[in-house]
Amino acid sequence: MYLQHLSLTNFRNYIRLELDLPPHVSVFQGGNAQGKSNLLESICFLATTRFSRAVAERELINWDVMAERLPFVRLSANIQKGERATLLEIVLRPRSAAHHEGRAVVGPIQKYIRVNGVSRRPADLIGQLNMVMFSPRDIDLIGGEPALRRRYLDITNSQIDPQYLKALQRYNKVLSQRNHLLRQIAAGQSRPDELLFWDQELVKAGAYIVLQRQRTIGELNDLANPIHDQLSGSREKLTLQYRPSIDKKEPGGLPEVEQAFTRARGLSLIGPHRDDVGFLVNEIDMGTYGSRGQQRTTALSLKLSEARFMLTQTGESPVLLLDDVLSELDPERRRHLLGAISNYRQVLITTTDLDRFPSEFLARAEKFRVADGRVEPA
Ligand SMILES: Nc1ncnc2c1ncn2[C@@H]1O[C@H](COP(=O)(O)OP(=O)(O)OP(=O)(O)O)[C@@H](O)[C@H]1O
Ligand SMILES: [Mg+2]
Repeated sequence: MYLQHLSLTNFRNYIRLELDLPPHVSVFQGGNAQGKSNLLESICFLATTRFSRAVAERELINWDVMAERLPFVRLSANIQKGERATLLEIVLRPRSAAHHEGRAVVGPIQKYIRVNGVSRRPADLIGQLNMVMFSPRDIDLIGGEPALRRRYLDITNSQIDPQYLKALQRYNKVLSQRNHLLRQIAAGQSRPDELLFWDQELVKAGAYIVLQRQRTIGELNDLANPIHDQLSGSREKLTLQYRPSIDKKEPGGLPEVEQAFTRARGLSLIGPHRDDVGFLVNEIDMGTYGSRGQQRTTALSLKLSEARFMLTQTGESPVLLLDDVLSELDPERRRHLLGAISNYRQVLITTTDLDRFPSEFLARAEKFRVADGRVEPA
C-alpha cells in the first residue's frame, strides 16, 4: 500500500498543500517550526482519525482561518493498494462559530469522514491507510504515563481490527453510562439492580479489548525480541508484558476473560481503562529503571516490531513515518534503522539536516524542502 497524493486545507500551518508522493523513500528537510511534524501528523490523522499524541481537534485548524466566519480543515489522501485506488477524506468543522469583540468563539468540532465520496464512520476509515509513526516522543511510551501506552495499544489494534475500535467505543460509552448510574444510585434516584445490565455490557466489550491487547503484546514481544537483540549488540533481552487490571492468571479465551471480569467487584475501578504494559530488559523494568538510552532503544525496538506486526497481520506494507528520529540515535542504531526500513514500500522521513544520511541512501530517495507550510521538490 502507498499514499499517492496528500491534500491539506487549513491544517495547522498548511493553508493549502497538494503533494504527490512516490512509492519509495522520501526525505523532507526543513528548519525548525516549518511544518515537518505537521505533515506526518496529517497522515497519521488520515490513517487513524487521531493525532499521534493527545491534541484537541480545534487545535488542528489553522489559527488565521479560525477567525473566519466558517472555519474548517480538510485532509484527503489517495491510497493505492495493488490495482485499487481509494480516496479518504476528513473534514473538521465547528458546529457553531460566533465572533465576540473581534475574537472567534468556536463550538464543539464535528468530524465528517468520507471514503470514495461516501459518508462513513471512523471505524470504516481506519485500516484503509496503515501507518507506523516513529517520533522522538516514543520514549514516553516506555517511561511515561500508562494512559500513553493504552492509547498506543488502542491505535495499533484499531488499525488492524475494526472490531476492536467498535468494542472500544462501546466500552467507553457503557463506562460513562455506568458511572452516571452509580451517581444516581448514590443520590437515591436509581435502584442498584439496574447496574446488572450495564455490568454485562461492560464485561462483553471489555473482555474483547483485553484479549486483543494481550494477543498484540504477545506478538509484539516475539517480534521485538530479535530486533532488540540486534540493536543492543546482544547485550539486552527485551520482554513485553501485558498488565491487565483484572485478576487473570492464565491466558485463555474470551469466556475466561469474561469470567475474570465478572468475578471482579466494582467494575468501573478495573478494566481496560486501567491496564498497562511493562517493558523489561534483562528482567528490569525500563519504565522505572531504564536509562534514557535504554528507553530510547526499547522504543525503537517496539516501533520496528509494530511495523513488522502490521505487515504480517494485514499482508500490506504499512507506510512508515519517521519524524526526525535519526538525530536521537548513535551511528550503529541509525544504520540498523535505515536498513530495517528499506524492507517497506513507502517511507517518509523528516530531518533538519541531510548530513545525517549516508549519501547512497539519499541518492535513492526523493528529496523535498519544507518551509513555512509549503513543500517543494528539492
Ligand atoms: N493550528 C495551527 N495553526 C497554525 N500554525 C500552527 C498550528 N498548530 C501549530 N502550528 C505551527 O506550525 C509550525 C510548524 O510545526 P511543526 O511541529 O510541524 O514544525 P517542525 O518543522 O516539525 O519543527 P521542528 O524541527 O522544531 O520539529 C509551528 O510553528 C507551530 O507553532
Ligand atoms: Mg517536528
